[in-house]
Amino acid sequence: MIFDVLTLFPGMFLSPLSESILKRAIERGIIQVRIVNIRDYAINKHGTVDDRPYGGGEGMVMKVEPIVRAIRSLKSEDGNIRVILLTPQGRLFKQSIVEELSQYSHLALICGRYEGVDERVKTCYVDDEISIGDYILTGGELAAIVIIDAVTRVLPGVLGGALSAECESFKDGLLEYPQYTRPIEFEGNRVPEVLLSGNHKKIREWRRREQLKRTLLKRPDLLKIAPLSKEDLKILDEIRENLRECD
Ligand code: ADE
Repeated sequence: MIFDVLTLFPGMFLSPLSESILKRAIERGIIQVRIVNIRDYAINKHGTVDDRPYGGGEGMVMKVEPIVRAIRSLKSEDGNIRVILLTPQGRLFKQSIVEELSQYSHLALICGRYEGVDERVKTCYVDDEISIGDYILTGGELAAIVIIDAVTRVLPGVLGGALSAECESFKDGLLEYPQYTRPIEFEGNRVPEVLLSGNHKKIREWRRREQLKRTLLKRPDLLKIAPLSKEDLKILDEIRENLRECD
């Protein structure tokens, strides 16, 4: 999968791409990340990439021509590229969008800066707009890194065990169950006995119950859309009942 990142700050991508799982995915050829400096596509010799907004107002707007020239040059190489603008106005990034994006073979991520990009970039050259959360970053670079990271880790061959991507939070619409490793006891807190029992059926049931409990307590909104079995609904009723008794 190819990620082309259009940015004014190429240096921001150096260390996230040279550590751990992303580094390995690049080395193995599962992903290719190409950083495109928008300034290289400026239309004057000063490398101007921004200008004052028509109509007045604070700040600077990223100019249309350098961004469009950069996109065109990528499209001339591959007509199937999907162009995404990172902006707080985009649709909210979540795991279902990660899965959706992982189906493409070539994404271009445009990192906006300043007060935004000229609207004409969006109307003709952008297929999708994505926000990574309801807050304003100084630019789209960190959002692009989030997207590259989240999409890469669901690509085949990136995570060690096939199961590690399967059992985690959100994949089945619920938060993940609690995890423990050695020591058995830490500052008086013991690992739950069931995990030491070797009884795999009991462990599975305990984990499912913990997933349901956590999701109910921390992210009840997810329960409305998670695919739940009759057994899950029964367990949820029991959990609610227990919580009422504790109140
Ligand atoms: N650029 C600035 N804020 C952003 C956000 N929350 N998501 C994506 N791009 C952004």
